[in-house]
Amino acid sequence: MQKTILGIETSCDETAVAIYSAERGLLAHEVYSQIPLHAQYGGVVPELASRDHIQKLLPLVDATLAAAGLEAADLTAIAYTAGPGLIGALLVGATLATGLAMAWRIPALPIHHMEAHLMATLLEDEPPEFPFIALLVSGGHTMLVDVQGFRRYEILGQTLDDAAGEAFDKTAKLLGLPYPGGPELAALAERGNGDRFNLPRPMLQRPGVDFSFSGLKTAVMLKVRAAEAEGPLDEALRADLADGFQEAVVDTLVRKSIRAVRQNGRQRLIVAGGVAANRLLRNRLHVAMADIGGEVFYPRSEFCTDNGAMIAFTGLLHFSAGDWPEDLADADLSVHARARWNLQEVTA
Ligand code: KG4
Ligand code: ZN
Repeated sequence: MQKTILGIETSCDETAVAIYSAERGLLAHEVYSQIPLHAQYGGVVPELASRDHIQKLLPLVDATLAAAGLEAADLTAIAYTAGPGLIGALLVGATLATGLAMAWRIPALPIHHMEAHLMATLLEDEPPEFPFIALLVSGGHTMLVDVQGFRRYEILGQTLDDAAGEAFDKTAKLLGLPYPGGPELAALAERGNGDRFNLPRPMLQRPGVDFSFSGLKTAVMLKVRAAEAEGPLDEALRADLADGFQEAVVDTLVRKSIRAVRQNGRQRLIVAGGVAANRLLRNRLHVAMADIGGEVFYPRSEFCTDNGAMIAFTGLLHFSAGDWPEDLADADLSVHARARWNLQEVTA
């Protein structure tokens, strides 16, 4: 039987749908970003996110089927993000996926969003082999995971406060940049020199691979306030602060990632999540992994950020591994949505 999976992602501020075929690979993927909707508020407004998913999701399912040249009858199953994420936003995807699955008489499979980010690297032509270390760095998460195989994940460390992307966004806001500020801050940093600031590298002196970024953000804030007391922030100072901040975050991420790779005797590192788009991080990780005779892998940039392809693909992996009842009469038709969900609970 041909296996063709529809994937639905609505955990935060992207409405995304894709279709992945076991035989033919990725057939179509569509993303509708809500960034312009939230930008005026300086961050994601959960209620607005849910309402916008409601409006956009069903037309996007239609558009994705049309782009793939398929009809509902061609689908084997629907995979959807069940968590972690914003609960209202998750419920939109989960209820629509379950409803469509009932109507079309196919199974619906709840997928862990972070597992899907891990698996996105395997969508590429030369995917890394298991085992590998994964650095997941997004607006909502920062963690290092030992991926021993499919459904075998051990969280080695994570952030104790802000996620790396969140720290980028908050610091960008302090520097007067629009939301989401990560890419804007990175661009500003290229014109600066942060050496003069000596910003902290939180948690580097401690053993283990946990992270903490809120102290770094506060250190930048104190420098901004001190400078503002003297007069308006000039462009050169903003660029220098952006560079100092980016250097501190990247340095911390690189050193902890290398520590995780070495401590677990791995040769491969994969990096996923929105911050994986950061050029300085990519360059430094490339050099650091080459130095220890290892290799670093990334999903293409559109699959670093939230997307439906990673959900459809992860759904296919579970389906192929027998994680779904073959007979629909045995299928679980309840709606699964969890704001919090530990990745280690996804097991074989
Ligand atoms: O994975 P993602 O699209 O959404 C979730 O948070 O799930 O990640 C978005 C985050 C934002 O915080 C954004 O500022 C950050 O990734 N980001 C970057 C860059 N591009 C996106 N941060 C630093 N440098 C970049 N080039
Ligand atoms: Zn994500």
